[in-house]
Amino acid sequence: MDKNSIKEQVLNAFNFRHACKEFDATKKISDDDFNFILETGRLSPSSLGLEPWKFLIVQNEDLRKQLKEVSWGAQGQLPTASHYVIFLTRNKNELSYNSQYVRDMFENVHHMPKEVANAIIEKMEDFQKNDAKVLDSERGIEDWSSKQCYIAMGNMMTSAAMIGIDSCPIEGYHRDSVEKILADANLLDKSKFTVACMTAFGYRKNEPKRAKTRQSMEEIVTFVK
Ligand SMILES: Cc1cc2nc3c(=O)[nH]c(=O)nc-3n(C[C@H](O)[C@H](O)[C@H](O)COP(=O)(O)O)c2cc1C
Repeated sequence: MDKNSIKEQVLNAFNFRHACKEFDATKKISDDDFNFILETGRLSPSSLGLEPWKFLIVQNEDLRKQLKEVSWGAQGQLPTASHYVIFLTRNKNELSYNSQYVRDMFENVHHMPKEVANAIIEKMEDFQKNDAKVLDSERGIEDWSSKQCYIAMGNMMTSAAMIGIDSCPIEGYHRDSVEKILADANLLDKSKFTVACMTAFGYRKNEPKRAKTRQSMEEIVTFVK
C-alpha cells in the first residue's frame, strides 16, 4: 500500500474513534481481534522500558455492576461494552529505582548484564529524585507510572479503531472505591498496584450525536525556527 493510502486509512481511524457512550451489547469482539488490541498495548513504549502496567479485563457481570455504582463516567459503557479494561499500574514500592521489580525488568526481561543494570539504576535514582522528582510522594510516582498506561490505552484505542472497533477512555470513577472493589475480589494487590484508568471496547449502538470538534492547528501548534 502506498504512503498516501496508509495516511488516509490512519486518519479515517482517528475520525472513526469517538468516546462511545453506549455499545451494542449483542455484538462481541472476537478473541483474535481483542488479542490484536492487547498486543498493541503490550508493545507500547514506557519510561526506561519498565512496562508498569497490568491489563485487567473485567467480563464478570456482577463486578461490572459494582463498578457502575462508583463510576459516573461509565454508566452507559459498563453494562454494554464487549470488553472492559482496567489499567493497573505499579506503585512506589515497585517503581522506585531500588526495587526488585526494576532490577528484574532490567536483568531478566531486557537481558542487561548486572553492571549495565547497576549503571542505569544509578542514573534512574538521579532522574527520579532530582529531574522528575517523582519520589517526593506516593502520588508522584503513581502519576508518573499512570502516564505510561495512558500511552498503552491510546495505542489500544487507535488499533481498535483501525479494525472498526469502538472504545471509550474512562476516568470518571471514584478511585478509592474502585480499588476496594478490586481488592475485595482479589484482583488488586494494593502493596504493588493502583488503578490508572479504564477503557471500554465494543461496537457502537448509535452514531455519535455530534461531529468531531477540535481547536485548529494554528491554535495548538507552534513551529520554532
Ligand atoms: C483521560 C480521559 C478520560 C475520559 N473519561 C471519560 C469518562 O469517564 N466518560 C466518558 O464518557 N468519556 C470520557 N472521556 C472522553 C472525552 O470526553 C472525549 O474523548 C472528548 O470529549 C473528545 O471527544 P471524542 O473522543 O469523541 O473525539 C475521557 C477521555 C480521556 C482522554
